[in-house]
Amino acid sequence: MFMKTFIKDLPRFAGQEARISGWLYNKRSSGPIMFLELRDGTGWIQGVVVKKDVSDEIWDEIVKSTQESSVEVAGKVEKHPKKENVFEMQIADFKIIQLAVDYPIAKKEHGPDFLLDHRHLWLRSQKQWAILKIRDAIITAINEYLHQEGFIKVDSPIFTPNACEGTTTLFSVPYFDLGSAYLSQSGQLYLEAAIGSVGRCYDFGPVFRAEKSKTKRHLTEFWMMDAEAAFVEHEENLKLQEGMVRHIIRHCLKSCSMELTILERDTEKLKKADAPFLRLSYDEAIKKLNELGSDIKYGEDLGNDDEGLLTQGSDAPVFIEKWPKNIKPFYMKRDPQNSSMVLNDDLIATDGGGEIIGGSQREENAAELEKRIEEEGMNKDDYEWYLDTRRYGGAPHSGFGIGLERAVRWICGVEHIRECIPFPRTIGRLKP
Ligand code: 4AD
Ligand code: MG
Repeated sequence: MFMKTFIKDLPRFAGQEARISGWLYNKRSSGPIMFLELRDGTGWIQGVVVKKDVSDEIWDEIVKSTQESSVEVAGKVEKHPKKENVFEMQIADFKIIQLAVDYPIAKKEHGPDFLLDHRHLWLRSQKQWAILKIRDAIITAINEYLHQEGFIKVDSPIFTPNACEGTTTLFSVPYFDLGSAYLSQSGQLYLEAAIGSVGRCYDFGPVFRAEKSKTKRHLTEFWMMDAEAAFVEHEENLKLQEGMVRHIIRHCLKSCSMELTILERDTEKLKKADAPFLRLSYDEAIKKLNELGSDIKYGEDLGNDDEGLLTQGSDAPVFIEKWPKNIKPFYMKRDPQNSSMVLNDDLIATDGGGEIIGGSQREENAAELEKRIEEEGMNKDDYEWYLDTRRYGGAPHSGFGIGLERAVRWICGVEHIRECIPFPRTIGRLKP
C-alpha cells in the first residue's frame, strides 16, 4: 500500500494510493475541509482532507502543521474535478517530520534585501524553484549541443597567474611563496591550449570579475561556458553560437513549460527567437543607434540602453560583429579587410536580455600576438606558454563564452541577475 513516489510522477497513480515526502507550502481551511499545498522539489500538488474521513490524530496533526514543515503524506491520487491535467491527493495519512515554527518568509511582499538575506530559504519559493530548474535545463542543453558538435569538456583552472580579460577586474589572492594568484575571468586561454590536443573543447564553471558596476546584469562570481574550436573561423564561430542558443530555446520550451508558466514568461516570444539571428557590424550598429537617438560615439562600448535599441523590432537575438580592436582584448584576430577592427561578436538577446555571449576568432600568428601583448603593456613572460600554442602547430581557431546567468535571466524573463544564480555574489553581497 501507499507506494513512495515523487509529485511529478503522481499522474501515473491516478485512482491509486501513493505516498510522498516533502514540505507544506501553504494551508487553508474551509470548516471541516483543509487544503494543503505540498511540494517535494519535483512539483506541487494540492492535498485535500475532510475531517470525517480521517482519525482525530491525523486531523490534529494537519491542524498543527505549519508553512515549510517537512511532512510525509499519503492518500489516493485523483484527477482535479475541473482542471485539465491537474491532480489532487485525498489525504489519508499525514505525519510531520519537523515542525517549522515562524517561517521567516511570509506570504506577503518582502524587500529584496530581506529576501537576499534569506536566500537559503527564499530558494524554496515557487518562482525561485522555477529559475533553478530552467538554469539546470540550460546547462543540459549546452552540454548536449556541444557534444553533438564534437566538443568535449576540458576543465580550466580557477587560480591563474595572469589576466584573460584585462587587468581592471582581477581578484587577487595571496598564493604561498609565489606571490599573488588571480581568480580566473574566463578559461579561454587554457582551452586554446587544449584544442591542440582534442580539437574542440569547452569548460563550464565559475569565473570572477571585480566588477564595480552595480547593474541588473553584473555579478562578481558567475558561471561561464567557454567553447573553443581549432580550424574554425569567424563565420563558423557565429553559426556554432547561433546553433547553441537556438538549441537552448528549444530544449527549455520542451522541458520547462511548467516553470516558464510559473515565471509568466511569454513563450511565444521565445518560440519566435528560434529563428535566424540578425547580424550588424559594429559600424552599422553605431549608425543605427545614432539614428535612433542614442548619443553613443564611434569607438565606445555599447551601453545597456544601446543593446535594447539594437534588438528593438527583432524577434531573434542580434549579433554585433567586427568591433574596433582598441576596445577589445589582445587575443582577437584583426579583420583582414580592415586592420583596425577584430573578427569578434557580441550576441545581444531580445526582450532586454542584453549581451549573453562574447566570442571571436583568435590571433593565431605568434609574432602578431606578441606585438599585441607588448602594445597592451602586458608582461610577455607570463604569456610565453600561450605563445607556444601558436609556435607549435598554430592554426586558425575561434571560440566564445556564454554567461550562464545572463542566459538564465533572458530565458526566464527575470529582471535581476541576482535571482539567476543560487547564491549571488555582488559588490555589496557575500552572504549567505
Ligand atoms: O564577453 P566576455 O568578457 O568574454 C570572455 O570572457 C571571453 N574570454 C569568452 C570566450 O571567448 N571564451 O564574457 C563572456 C560572457 C558575456 O557575454 C556575459 O554573458 C558574461 O560572460 N558576463 C557576465 N555575466 C555576469 N556578470 C558579469 N560581471 C559578467 N561579465 C561577463
Ligand atoms: Mg563581452
